[in-house]
Amino acid sequence: MKNLNSRQAMAAMLLAAASTSALMAPAAAQTMPVADTQAETRMTTAAAPVSAGKPALAQAGVAGTVDAKGDAGSAATPQMTRDNGAPIGENRHSKAAGDFGPVLLEDTTLIEKLARFDREREPERVVHARGTGAHGVFTATADISNITSASLFASGKQTPVFVRFSTVIHPSGSPEGMRDPRGFATKFYTDQGNWDLVGNNLPIFFIRDAIQFPDMIHSLKPSPVTNKQDPNRFFDFFSATPEATNMLAHVYSNLGTPASYRTMDGNGVHAFKLVNAKGETVFAKFRWISRQGVKNLNGAQVATASWNYLTDDLYGEIAKGDFPVWDLMVQTMKPSEFAKLDYNPFDDTKEWLGVPFRKIGEMTLNKVPTNFFEFTEQSAFAPANMVPGIEASPDRMLQGRLFSYSDTQRHRIGANVMQLPVNRPLASVVNNNQDGQLDHATRTSDVNYFPAATAAKSTDARYRASTYAVDAMVDAKPIAKTNNFAQAGAFYRALSAQDRADLVTNLAGDLNVVTSARTKTIMVSYFYQADQDFGTRLATAVNVPMADVSRAVADYRAANPAQTTRR
Ligand code: HEM
Repeated sequence: MKNLNSRQAMAAMLLAAASTSALMAPAAAQTMPVADTQAETRMTTAAAPVSAGKPALAQAGVAGTVDAKGDAGSAATPQMTRDNGAPIGENRHSKAAGDFGPVLLEDTTLIEKLARFDREREPERVVHARGTGAHGVFTATADISNITSASLFASGKQTPVFVRFSTVIHPSGSPEGMRDPRGFATKFYTDQGNWDLVGNNLPIFFIRDAIQFPDMIHSLKPSPVTNKQDPNRFFDFFSATPEATNMLAHVYSNLGTPASYRTMDGNGVHAFKLVNAKGETVFAKFRWISRQGVKNLNGAQVATASWNYLTDDLYGEIAKGDFPVWDLMVQTMKPSEFAKLDYNPFDDTKEWLGVPFRKIGEMTLNKVPTNFFEFTEQSAFAPANMVPGIEASPDRMLQGRLFSYSDTQRHRIGANVMQLPVNRPLASVVNNNQDGQLDHATRTSDVNYFPAATAAKSTDARYRASTYAVDAMVDAKPIAKTNNFAQAGAFYRALSAQDRADLVTNLAGDLNVVTSARTKTIMVSYFYQADQDFGTRLATAVNVPMADVSRAVADYRAANPAQTTRR
């Protein structure tokens, strides 16, 4: 039986099981009459060509197999070897002691083949396991040396990139249309080292402190008892996490089921610190604006989607030479501007609404990897991979991410993860980190310490990180300006009437699975505080009495007096 048939059978089973639960629903169709969602609130670019994107993927043909004994060794059919390079004479039959005898342990070809097969999987990413990648090029289009010394932004300069798109919660091999934020991670191979902008399609995030991330992910992943994702569990978590209201409104809108990876914007989400050659700093947020437009699927379209529709679309369009393009935009703020904000500028549950965007470059994806595992699966993006001129802000989520990614990658792939072709910088690596599994650093010097008069290495003061003063009471407590609901309301009101209706339907689909009246009521009360129409329609859709919602709002306001009326 062909592999495809078993995949299709699984897809059919999953479709049958999906019922009304939006988060559980497999996704997206290849025919997609899709709306450019939120066009008025996202950045627009002049004359951006918009295409609905209908991949017409050719069935991949089988290149042809040759019997190992055929014309082995000719130029057309290379001689097979073992991993040690030694030619092998037989690849179809094990070495056995006669017709009725056992197979011999001395059959090194067999043992090696099975042993390598046994080790074909590396642990999948703990999140963002299902993804697809492509190579491309970034071109800087503006001189921004006044705000950053990052060499990749010298106007006109071209930098190779590798991008990986992904879903967040669902495992490797899951249907690509499952409702989720979408990862949009870009690795820039700059001449001063790799810069990874590890973002999402949505401009904000669920939580604002890294210490909550493992709990949130545990609630969203399948239950440790039933091994099923369960809205009872994640809404239990979110009912105690009002700052997630903005992100939940985004994820349950049709942005949670994009029509294609080409038709998504990307967001760095956090503020970063930019530093110019004089050591002056500003804070900045990055956004990729898709020239293909933002297009999404609604629940009905997603329900008829094929399993791999996002990968098929990306690979198909690139194969046709229809290369997707994004403009890179930047927003900047100085600390002197922070006082006027009614939110914390380093709170990743907030957008910097009203702060102007400026185009600083464009990116074209023009080649799919020659091998999925070697490039896409083994790619290792890490917010800690920054280059001179780009530094971290005090965003508490970003600070946690600086540790988490490189740590997981040393476990997921190995200590020498950075030596793999997809992760290796173009700039040469000079330091005394060494050894570990699968080391291929080809070190020849015996000076693996610093300082060393016998073989000096230098550290140029130009690349010192920026300095800043900290004068505060060390404590583990929430930020002051939480303002949990205003931006979720603004998002809701900016949606088209149809997108608002779809948001309520999508959210109600999962909220109706929740058996706890308390959890449901609190969740509705959050959306009500974002926007009264939103909350009222949701209350009707999930059968929660408005009197209960009002009580929950009053309870929340009593416990959080500073929040009460911010819009
Ligand atoms: C403190 C909060 C967070 C933690 C601890 C965290 C942790 C992780 C980990 C461990 C991975 C797997 C990395 C790998 O195996 O290579 C990952 C992947 C990813 N995360 Fe996060 N994450 C956090 C928040 C975020 C946020 C806010 C965003 C978006 C701005 C984000 C975007 C991504 C993306 C796009 C990937 C996939 C990268 C790829 O394609 O390989 N994460 N995250």
